[in-house]
Parts: sequence; structure tokens; C-alpha cells
Amino acid sequence: MDATKLRRAIARTPLAPVAAFPKRLARVARHDAKVLRTSARWLVTSREHHNYTYELTKLSRHHLAWFVSVVCDVPVKQVRAYLNEIETDEELRGHIERATATASRRGLADKRVRYARRIGWYAIVRARKPAHVVETGVDKGLGSCVLAAALLRNTAEGHPGRLTSLDINPEAGYLARATPWAGVVDLVIGDSVASIGALDRPVDLFLHDSDHSRGHEKREFDAVEPKLAPGAMLLTDNVTVTNVLAEHAERTGRRFLAYRETPARHWYPGDGIGVAW
Ligand SMILES: C[S@@+](CC[C@H](N)C(=O)[O-])C[C@H]1O[C@@H](n2cnc3c(N)ncnc32)[C@H](O)[C@@H]1O
Repeated sequence: MDATKLRRAIARTPLAPVAAFPKRLARVARHDAKVLRTSARWLVTSREHHNYTYELTKLSRHHLAWFVSVVCDVPVKQVRAYLNEIETDEELRGHIERATATASRRGLADKRVRYARRIGWYAIVRARKPAHVVETGVDKGLGSCVLAAALLRNTAEGHPGRLTSLDINPEAGYLARATPWAGVVDLVIGDSVASIGALDRPVDLFLHDSDHSRGHEKREFDAVEPKLAPGAMLLTDNVTVTNVLAEHAERTGRRFLAYRETPARHWYPGDGIGVAW
């Protein structure tokens, strides 16, 4: 019997997994060794302990451009121009670097500025030109800065807009307290559900990125529903963890789509952007 016939014969028997064990072991060991190498490098080079920052892989960035193109119904070339705009905004990058270097929490922040999926948030704001954006969950204010940068560009092109950023932590948002970005940001401290209930202007774009428990995410979308302007878009940063926004979209007659980011050179599997519109 030749080798091929023998392999086929073994594949039909209960011995097949045992025979394939060395190949299976090599495959999983190669994968795990790569994760361990990346994790070890991150442990010694990064200072972050949550809300990790990283670049997207080239492929993940391509997919993000198409994702935004579909959900915003704008040509993908236009979306790529928006992504390029935020990535080459040296004024914002310089500000974040300087503010991070002098912040009281600088020991827990990386010096390099990396926006990850937030470049998608930027492109969505540039494409839709919302008059009022609400972001729940601010942390250092990286996302608020990115959203504010998009609103400032829209304003310069004749489409003014403001961002209301909600966080329960009074120390949140220190990156977004500088000019010119602070000029379009209203930072509100308190529980996000209560703060949403107190909003006195219609919301064109809503982003959930606060307490990522299922219950809190649902309470935010329920609370914001009566506050939405006609045709408003809803985003969630929690789309790799819950199905809350998809269920909300189904209940309210909207479409839903999810993008899952892939971080480059990072052990973290990444988050995503869920959109209901
Ligand atoms: C993942 S971080 C936000 C990240 C931020 N959007 C960014 O782009 O980097 C989550 C934030 O949610 C805030 N948070 C947690 N529970 C909250 C609540 N009930 N109401 C408002 N903010 C809350 C936390 O204080 C934390 O700053």
C-alpha cells in the first residue's frame, strides 16, 4: 500500500486524530507562540491597563473604510480621504502627546497616539455632518478629541456641530479640555442614563462607550430613543460583547451592521463598531 492510500485508510479509523496529533500540535503551538511573543513585548513596552490603544492592521483599515462607506452611503474614496485626514492631523496628535506627557495619569498612558477604530467614528461624523453627537464614556478623552476634530472640520465647511460627552468620573476627558477641540465639546459628569434623560437638544449621532454591561447599554439606547432627531444613527463600542444594539435596531425598524477591528502588533483581540440606522 502506498503512503497516500495508507493515510486515507487511517483517516477512516478512530486512530486518525492520534496520527494527526503532531501536525495539530505544531499548528496550535505556532499560533500560541506568536500570541505569547506579542503579549510579552506589550508587557514591557506599554503602560496601559485598560482601554488599550493600537493601530489597525492594513486589512482591518480597508474593511473599516468599506464599512463606513456602506453605512453612510458615501463613496469609499471619500471615506479613505476622511481616514487619512484624522491620521495626518498633526495638531491633534501633538496636543494628545503633550497632554498625555503632563497628565496626572501619565504613568498609565502610552506616549504614542493610536486611534484604533476611532478613525471610523471620525469618518462617520465627517460623512453625516451631525449637528449634535452624544458619546457616553469618555475616559481620557481620546474618542472625544477625534469626534471634536471631525466636528471642527465640518464646521469649517459650513456644517456646525457639537459633541456632548458623558462620563461618571469627574477626572474623565482631560484630553478634550484644550482649544480648539474643547470649543465644540460639552463634558457632562454623572451617570450616562440620567444625563441622556436631561439632554435638551435632538441627537443626530449617539455612541455608547460607557459601562459595557448588557443592562446599562440597553438602558442607554432606551433612554436616548425619544431624544433622537429624525434619521439619527446609533453606534455601539460594545458590539463584540452584546447583541443589544442589533436587538434595538430590530425593535425600532432600523438596519444594523457590525465591524470587528483587528489590532496590529497587540495581544488584545480588538473591539468593533456596531451601527443601527
Ligand atoms: C471604555 S471607557 C470610554 C472610552 C472612550 N470613549 C474613548 O474613546 O477612549 C469607559 C468610560 O465609561 C465611564 N462610565 C462607566 N460607567 C458609567 C456610567 N454609568 N455613566 C457614565 N459613564 C460611565 C467610565 O468612567 C470610563 O471613563
